[in-house]
Amino acid sequence: MFIVFEGGDGVGKTTQVARLAQWLSDRGTPHVVTRQPGGTPVGVELRRLVLDPAVGHVDARAEALMYAADKAQHVHELIEPELARGVTVVCDRYVDSMIAYQGAGRALDIDDVARIAWWAVGDRRPDLTILLDTDPAGAVEAIAAKDRLEGAGPEVHGRARRFFLDLAAADPDRYLVLDARRSRDDLASVIADKVASLVG
Ligand SMILES: Nc1ncnc2c1ncn2[C@@H]1O[C@H](COP(=O)(O)OP(=O)(O)O)[C@@H](O)[C@H]1O
Ligand SMILES: [Mg+2]
Repeated sequence: MFIVFEGGDGVGKTTQVARLAQWLSDRGTPHVVTRQPGGTPVGVELRRLVLDPAVGHVDARAEALMYAADKAQHVHELIEPELARGVTVVCDRYVDSMIAYQGAGRALDIDDVARIAWWAVGDRRPDLTILLDTDPAGAVEAIAAKDRLEGAGPEVHGRARRFFLDLAAADPDRYLVLDARRSRDDLASVIADKVASLVG
């Protein structure tokens, strides 16, 4: 299975990725945990380029292509080979994050971004995307200085949230949308139940 976590910054994705990985370990299910951008050596370099404010201004198209390059390498080098070996892949952010954030920046057409992103990953769709959703208003201030993506203004985060929700609504069978304000234990148990129901 290919399972993806999506949502805004600080909503608890990495926390739930770790919880799901622990649950998979307890069940003896072979799995790998990875993330975008940055899941391969090339991706680590690209992640630095797209997130480090010291890199300076990066043109929106160039930035989109760097995210796309990270995805292409990641799917080629890690995701597809692991899935082919029957290993469950749990990924912290994927195509929806690129669409939501690049689209929310408004410099690029969202359909163009979606096309580039899906092309980059060879149309590899997650079996399940868990969207952790919450109002970004509270979270944005604390993280504003951290990096370039997270340094985007509150309007961008609000637009990105709506894009995430729209993507989920367009394909409800492949998404689990959860209120990120629920407790960690509560979320972990709902997510585990959902994954268990899919693997049978
Ligand atoms: N359900 C939750 N309720 C309250 N705080 C949480 C919850 N899940 C995670 N956190 C805390 O919120 C912060 C961001 O969590 P993290 O998993 O790093 O989010 P993300 O990976 O989405 O940026 C961390 O300090 C984490 O301990
Ligand atoms: Mg994280």
